[in-house]
Amino acid sequence: MSQILSYLLILSFFFFFINSLGTNSSPLCQSHYCSNVIIRYPFWVHNESASDQQYCGYPGFGIMCLNGTAVLEIHGDRYHVKDINYADYTLSLVDIDVSNQTCPRPRARHSVSLETLPLKYSSIDLNLSFYFNCTSDPAITVPPIPCLNVNGSYRHSYVFVENHETEGYDWSKNCEEKAVVTVRHIQTEINIEDLIDRFGGAMNDGFVLDWERVKDCVACENSEGYCGYNATAEEFLCFCNDGSTHRNSCKGTNSSPLCQSHYCSNVIIRYPFWVHNESASDQQYCGYPGFGIMCLNGTAVLEIHGDRYHVKDINYADYTLSLVDIDVSNQTCPRPRARHSVSLETLPLKYSSIDLNLSFYFNCTSDPAITVPPIPCLNVNGSYRHSYVFVENHETEGYDWSKNCEEKAVVTVRHIQTEINIEDLIDRFGGAMNDGFVLDWERVKDCVACENSEGYCGYNATAEEFLCFCNDGSTHRNSCKEKEI
Ligand SMILES: *[C@@H]1O[C@H](CO)[C@@H](O)[C@H](O)[C@H]1NC(C)=O
Ligand SMILES: *[C@@H]1O[C@H](CO)[C@@H](O)[C@H](O)[C@H]1NC(C)=O
Ligand SMILES: *[C@@H]1O[C@H](CO)[C@@H](O)[C@H](O)[C@H]1NC(C)=O
Ligand SMILES: *[C@@H]1O[C@H](CO)[C@@H](O)[C@H](O)[C@H]1NC(C)=O
Ligand SMILES: *[C@@H]1O[C@H](CO)[C@@H](O)[C@H](O)[C@H]1NC(C)=O
Ligand SMILES: *[C@@H]1O[C@H](CO)[C@@H](O)[C@H](O)[C@H]1NC(C)=O
Ligand SMILES: *[C@@H]1O[C@H](CO)[C@@H](O)[C@H](O)[C@H]1NC(C)=O
Ligand SMILES: *[C@@H]1O[C@H](CO)[C@@H](O)[C@H](O)[C@H]1NC(C)=O
Ligand SMILES: *[C@@H]1O[C@H](CO)[C@@H](O)[C@H](O)[C@H]1NC(C)=O
Ligand SMILES: *[C@@H]1O[C@H](CO)[C@@H](O)[C@H](O)[C@H]1NC(C)=O
Ligand SMILES: *[C@@H]1O[C@H](CO)[C@@H](O)[C@H](O)[C@H]1NC(C)=O
Ligand SMILES: *[C@@H]1O[C@H](CO)[C@@H](O)[C@H](O)[C@H]1NC(C)=O
Repeated sequence: MSQILSYLLILSFFFFFINSLGTNSSPLCQSHYCSNVIIRYPFWVHNESASDQQYCGYPGFGIMCLNGTAVLEIHGDRYHVKDINYADYTLSLVDIDVSNQTCPRPRARHSVSLETLPLKYSSIDLNLSFYFNCTSDPAITVPPIPCLNVNGSYRHSYVFVENHETEGYDWSKNCEEKAVVTVRHIQTEINIEDLIDRFGGAMNDGFVLDWERVKDCVACENSEGYCGYNATAEEFLCFCNDGSTHRNSCKGTNSSPLCQSHYCSNVIIRYPFWVHNESASDQQYCGYPGFGIMCLNGTAVLEIHGDRYHVKDINYADYTLSLVDIDVSNQTCPRPRARHSVSLETLPLKYSSIDLNLSFYFNCTSDPAITVPPIPCLNVNGSYRHSYVFVENHETEGYDWSKNCEEKAVVTVRHIQTEINIEDLIDRFGGAMNDGFVLDWERVKDCVACENSEGYCGYNATAEEFLCFCNDGSTHRNSCKEKEI
């Protein structure tokens, strides 16, 4: 076993103990007990005197702790929160108005409306339909609810499992009111007598809601962040364990547990990039293959297929990389290398949509068909041959540029401006080449499972395989969620 691996194994025991002590509360917000109900992310303590608590979880998930009773308000109606199961993502609620009544009179309304909230009825729920003050009719073949009888009235009230009303009587038309109430599924076979006996108990038992992850929070939560809602700005924010706040995700803020992030002048090198140092070859475990950045005399340098580029900036939030060909650096009239623009094959890099390709033609034979000015600073004294620049595929017609010029080079630059004429190009190509170009990087396919499990993907060049290094110090083949290797 290599030294690095045994070190990792020792670390993994150490981290295990630390991790097992970790709580699942947002760094912003304490978890809070309200009697025996623990309120923590994505729920939060709704306290009118402390309005900033809504940053602690999902909007609408604020739970009030009223006199020791946890209370959730859904569209104006209050429910007693009996239990929150954070492992199963379920919530047990009881309508506060029916609480402890043996013969609760359901509120005259439909069951809780969950629209706009990331909540849905559990599959263990059942809807009961209540019909109140129904006109007497021999067609009614079921017993009424005795405890809801009104003295001196011939009208009765009835209960059914929703959509199992007895037929032959128009319940909706002949009864004064209908209410639908959700309860836990009582038992497999339900007859009317059972319902009449048990609906009070069932309503006091309440019902179960499943909660779903808020779509806008998935990236944040996947990156171990806590998603909160800024009601003023009407936007979600991602609060990270290191105390930072991000728009979508904490990803890209951290460095692999193996490798320190490193500043090279003002460029920070961290996952999936790594410091390429020939004296310390194990650094390639710190990120994607080919993403090693040299720090040469204070300049960050990336080598792509043998050509060196000055790394001006790495934007970890946008997954973009600004590069300048090191050979053209600080030249006012750079002579593009005689080759095609950077070949990105095999690397998880692609040209940004803000890039533009320029075509240079060198030492072209004179011809009256050439209607555009040459590049003066590339003129060779005593030669009648000139050099020209175009936006790629916008060469002027009537002259075979490829055939009549000694050499062609394609250079990628940032898109200079919307309308580009040849004079502009001649004036600005040097500056544009010094400004460089932008590459987007993509996630390496072999690393997606690892990164989704919050691991850092590294490459073992000897074994030619990817490894997944996890925050607890363990190493896995594909993902931190699988068995350790
Ligand atoms: C609500 O906030 C106030 C002021 O911060 C605090 O005194 C009170 O205990 C809080 N109430 C609950 C139920 O957390
Ligand atoms: C809170 O509980 C106490 C004792 O259980 C009770 O006397 C009081 O009336 C309750 N207050 C409210 C607002 O429910
Ligand atoms: C309902 O009754 C239980 C025990 O009988 C009691 O602990 C609880 O506080 C009561 N709830 C309400 C809302 O009155
Ligand atoms: C109960 O009613 C609600 C609201 O109409 C509905 O969303 C839910 O699916 C129903 N539940 C069952 C078990 O039919
Ligand atoms: C049912 O009828 C009684 C007596 O007429 C009345 O007091 C009660 O409000 C009615 N209930 C409903 C739900 O209409
Ligand atoms: C109904 O009448 C009975 C006796 O006739 C009486 O004991 C009971 O209190 C009455 N109930 C209501 C709700 O008025
Ligand atoms: C919430 O949004 C408001 C308005 O845009 C802003 O002033 C405030 O700083 C934001 N709060 C947080 C915690 O970002
Ligand atoms: C490269 O590694 C050697 C030995 O570990 C170290 O002394 C040197 O500072 C490193 N160079 C860079 C640029 O990180
Ligand atoms: C490094 O920079 C110093 C001062 O900026 C310069 O004198 C030296 O030649 C540079 N070395 C290399 C290898 O570029
Ligand atoms: C280019 O010029 C800038 C400032 O003019 C300087 O900071 C930088 O080191 C130069 N780069 C090279 C590679 O000479
Ligand atoms: C262009 O011609 C000049 C003079 O003949 C020569 O020195 C130079 O190498 C040529 N350039 C290219 C790109 O062929
Ligand atoms: C990399 O692969 C080689 C050859 O299979 C192996 O000896 C070495 O332990 C591996 N390194 C890590 C860190 O797994």
